[in-house]
Amino acid sequence: MLIAVPRERGPRERRVSLVPETVARITKMNHRVLVEEGAGMASGFSDQQYRDAGAEVARSEQGWMKSVDLVVTVQNTDFSPTSPFAFLREEAYIIGMLGPLSSPPEMYEVLLRNKLTAFSMDVMPRISRAQSMDVLSSMSTIAGYRAAIIGAEQLPRLFPLLMTAAGTITPAHVLVLGAGVAGLQAIATTHRLGAIVRAFDTRPVVREQVESLGASFLTLEIQTQQTTEGYAQALAEDIHQQEINLLSKPVSEADVVITTALIPGKPAPLLVTKEMVSSMRAGSVIVDLAAETGGNCELSQPGQRIVTDNGVTIDAPLNIASQLAPHASQLYSRNVLNFLNHLFAMGLGEEGKDLDVNDEIVSRTMILRGGKVLHEVLAQRMEQVRS
Ligand code: NAI
Repeated sequence: MLIAVPRERGPRERRVSLVPETVARITKMNHRVLVEEGAGMASGFSDQQYRDAGAEVARSEQGWMKSVDLVVTVQNTDFSPTSPFAFLREEAYIIGMLGPLSSPPEMYEVLLRNKLTAFSMDVMPRISRAQSMDVLSSMSTIAGYRAAIIGAEQLPRLFPLLMTAAGTITPAHVLVLGAGVAGLQAIATTHRLGAIVRAFDTRPVVREQVESLGASFLTLEIQTQQTTEGYAQALAEDIHQQEINLLSKPVSEADVVITTALIPGKPAPLLVTKEMVSSMRAGSVIVDLAAETGGNCELSQPGQRIVTDNGVTIDAPLNIASQLAPHASQLYSRNVLNFLNHLFAMGLGEEGKDLDVNDEIVSRTMILRGGKVLHEVLAQRMEQVRS
């Protein structure tokens, strides 16, 4: 197959979909890889490194992707009639984090018109055999680590307990809300930096994981069921209000609050109100990792770092994984390679063989095929826009 790696064009995007190491593995399988010039630059990979890995480098001129069979992207969001994607031949494949639960439905029109088959990595089923393809876990791990570093960097105090000849410095107190993949990584990192860490999640099953990382789990008597895939279900309004009330004290006592709570396909739950922020000490920090879907803190401004009147820094980064682009790209790229190997095993690109669409990994990630929308939620969202 001829596989294309375009330069990412989304705002704040520094990642690249395939790194030279992965390209070398793909070219060894007798596929050709065409990399748009400069595609890896922001992640620290030069065109020459791609050539050395066996890729060809394409100039960014109109239609450079017109003869490719498969495009791998991170999260290009421009599929407009003038974008390189509009020139893809009919029935080509596209793989990326295409966001069927959240991206603007209009974005898919060009892909549908060209009868492309699209696989979205961000709806990968959370089953053991798909773990090595789970881009959400990879990116959340990076996000959790980065949030811990932002918290430590923005806090005008030390994290660890220090006993010096000049006296003792007491450790910082960190509160992590939401203990999924990102939250657990934030706990591990802040704990390693020496802070005293507390955490809360509405899924009681994570208590053990939190404690095994050296943090204490807040007992708030607020619980929710988790879906078969391990995601939290949204709380009923009165229980959600109770959770906010119960979090007021721990938030006011924390030096750093890292929020990571998400409900797939829904706005992020509000956990830190403006009243709670006003109860925090000057110099305290909130890092809100839920900014992409509205934020867990009422005062968060997505994509910005602000300081409130009472001196609390609120950082609500967007596309935080992109801040550590070389490693984010490396992990993403390995997830894609594992997914590609799976698709090849299922018949992708084999002459006269149809892709096995009954396989769970294929059927759950394939959101568009031959001009049809296969992803239920995306189909409903597109219908709403059209009517
Ligand atoms: P996520 O990013 O959707 O949510 C982050 C966390 O926020 C979750 O732990 C959720 O329980 C929590 N949360 C939601 N509402 C909250 C509220 N009101 N208050 C406090 N916390 C709240 O979840 P993530 O990190 O993507 O994964 C969740 C779980 O999925 C993992 O812990 C794991 O059990 C499972 N998983 C399974 C995988 C596999 O088997 N392949 C791979 C990765 C995760």
